[in-house]
Amino acid sequence: MNVLIVYYSMYGHIKAMAQAAAEGVAQVSGAAAVIRRVPETLPEEVLAKMGALDAQKAQASIPVCTVDELAQADAIIFGTPTRFGNMCGQMRQFLDSTGGLWQQGALVGKVGSVFASSATQHGGQESTILTFHVTLLHQGMVVVGLPYAFGQQMGVDEIKGCSPYGASTIAGGDGARQPSETELAGARWQGRHVAQIAMKLSK
Ligand SMILES: Cc1cc2nc3c(=O)[nH]c(=O)nc-3n(C[C@H](O)[C@H](O)[C@H](O)COP(=O)(O)O)c2cc1C
Repeated sequence: MNVLIVYYSMYGHIKAMAQAAAEGVAQVSGAAAVIRRVPETLPEEVLAKMGALDAQKAQASIPVCTVDELAQADAIIFGTPTRFGNMCGQMRQFLDSTGGLWQQGALVGKVGSVFASSATQHGGQESTILTFHVTLLHQGMVVVGLPYAFGQQMGVDEIKGCSPYGASTIAGGDGARQPSETELAGARWQGRHVAQIAMKLSK
């Protein structure tokens, strides 16, 4: 059982969530996670102006995803930062290169799931995940979220991301906040949940 985790992360928040999701996948006997980045679309000078070069270098060892890898996966978990309440352009561009998979029905019946991050608490995590789901549904994927069975998303005792649609983290206006233990637990739970459902579907 091969669960592909494919993400974009400009400053590292989504990368940390991707690693947590992979830990969750690994909790399921017989399931293995593969982590991949989507191709960068911004020139280096723009990334430099955005203060993202160090975070990009830290991810250099993670292979860039190919479209074929999507077809080979048993389940796919996508991670994206919010851009104006939607997925980032790098992820959109990658998804827009999957028309061939759509034509072949290559993703039909595979589990698809999404996690996200945003700078602010109400900056569009839910809209990012829900609008992402539309693409997964066009591809015929079986959409899986983060149900309230992940009980840590209840309560207002702390500022936190995560919703029934998927795990999420709040980076803060200056990006200094790192994913909290609760948010990482949400990503782990989602990874395990996806792997468990994919395992059941494969029987
Ligand atoms: C062009 C642009 C648009 C953004 N739009 C939003 C937004 O709508 N809401 C929000 O809270 N944060 C927004 N952000 C902040 C990013 O979502 C934030 O930097 C990201 O979630 C951090 O995750 P990362 O380190 O994995 O890239 C935006 C950032 C950029 C560069």
